[in-house]
Amino acid sequence: MDVLGIDIGGSGIKGAPVDTETGELTQERLRIPTPHPAKPAAVAEVVAEIVDHFAWTGPVGVTFPGVVVDGVVRSAANVHESWIGVDASKLFGDATVLNDADAAGIAEMTFGAGRGRRGTVLMLTFGTGIGSALFIDGTLVPNTELGHLELDGKDAEHRASDKAREDHDLSWGKWAERVEEYLRHVDMLFSPSLIIIGGGVSKKSDKFLPHISVDTEVVPAKLQNEAGIIGAAQTTTS
Ligand code: BGC
Repeated sequence: MDVLGIDIGGSGIKGAPVDTETGELTQERLRIPTPHPAKPAAVAEVVAEIVDHFAWTGPVGVTFPGVVVDGVVRSAANVHESWIGVDASKLFGDATVLNDADAAGIAEMTFGAGRGRRGTVLMLTFGTGIGSALFIDGTLVPNTELGHLELDGKDAEHRASDKAREDHDLSWGKWAERVEEYLRHVDMLFSPSLIIIGGGVSKKSDKFLPHISVDTEVVPAKLQNEAGIIGAAQTTTS
């Protein structure tokens, strides 16, 4: 079954039809810059533009970079605060809406680095913020929000996200130290058998993963930029 998957990010909103059996994009993906300020009406316009571009009349799945419960937005750390309380599912024309890291995690567990892995698996995405997706024997525990754990008295994502690396002009080695400290903390809390590192940095993993040593197996995500689109589409069929 083909589903239109749309991934709302801090810099771009990306969409493509996805074959949910194979996880393949069936048409070239469309990316439109995220409007600023990224208020609900402006973002909904871009989502509608993507739906129109593909002349899509079938099911649509959308990711959102905050807590989403039953289609309603409950947090907005990196997007405009006017999102809180908005029924995003309704706003996007009855689409399925879920957290961005949860969507990426679902895709990685089915088609990527977590395929076939049982036990506790943690996907962590490093981008504007830090997103998390926790799986127990392949089942998602949604909205875990581990990016907001406290690290050195600060919100972890303010210290260890990819944005923090850029904002503070950190070398890959220096940033890796922060990420390692964060991973050790998460490892202590959950004792996962696998940690998958996703987000834009996953394609540059050779720059920082060699600097990181934790007891748990740590691997880069396989689907990289497309994980959110694929996961959004997958959730919509289940
Ligand atoms: C949000 C999460 C989101 C993550 C990555 C965090 O600031 O609270 O919901 O998954 O950023 O976008």
